[in-house]
Amino acid sequence: KERVTTADFRRWKEEKRPVTMLTAYDFPTARLVDEAGIDAILVGDSVGNVILGYPSTLPVTMEEMLHHTRAVARAVSRAMVIGDMPFLSYQASREEAVRNAGRFLKEAGAQAVKLEGGREFAATVKAIVTSGIPVMGHIGLTPQYVHQLGGYRVQGRQAAAAQRLVEDAFSLAEAGAFAIVLECVPAEVARYITENVPVPTIGIGAGVDCDGQVLVTHDLLGLYGGFAPKFAKRYANLVDEVMRALAAFREEVQRRQFPGPEHSFTMPPEELAQFYA
Ligand code: KIV
Ligand code: NA
Repeated sequence: KERVTTADFRRWKEEKRPVTMLTAYDFPTARLVDEAGIDAILVGDSVGNVILGYPSTLPVTMEEMLHHTRAVARAVSRAMVIGDMPFLSYQASREEAVRNAGRFLKEAGAQAVKLEGGREFAATVKAIVTSGIPVMGHIGLTPQYVHQLGGYRVQGRQAAAAQRLVEDAFSLAEAGAFAIVLECVPAEVARYITENVPVPTIGIGAGVDCDGQVLVTHDLLGLYGGFAPKFAKRYANLVDEVMRALAAFREEVQRRQFPGPEHSFTMPPEELAQFYA
């Protein structure tokens, strides 16, 4: 199967063919997501919360992101692999942003990067895109800015704030972003941006009218014990399934029911006779 490209994203917006995106941080999950026909796999900095046990995405480092992106890239053949630029990997200077963005492609096998921020980062996006690295924007609830946003809450409910989001989206598109994640914004705002900005919008908590949708795979699978936001629809409850299996193993070992003969090895009879002799 051919690799999904930014040209596909552009065409799919014209065709109104919804784009699907999910997170993955490891080889087996990435392989399943790719085999399920999902168009793009985001190695999100949500790896910090979901996998590494950090209280937020802020501590996540470039080295951690590259480590997980490599594992994902090895597993994926069709989906576009997108590396999420971690906190302070692109904010300090444009040069640092280009170098760090490039590492995702050069050292980790990604095809694009994503970064959080609106018009303040338009020049950064432009510099990265100019270097040959496709960039996905991300506005609305941007978790790296949690200390400025004053918590994880819906963004753009006031008319003035909604207008700023619209302008941020235009500015990212003009800077060359090939798509824009809209996180936790009113459905009306997401719809307006989707209808007026020329690049695909990928929604998460942004209503049904976006050009595509993204979720954290662990939320979708119910594989994460921690807090899950309102927009995170659970399509399975794997925590229950995992707990059932773990308890069954514990009980079978304690009752000497596992391993059974079908999980054990034996010696050939003549060897066994010699062994005992
Ligand atoms: O890190 C992440 O998982 C994300 C998505 C929720 C868009 O940025
Ligand atoms: Na992220």
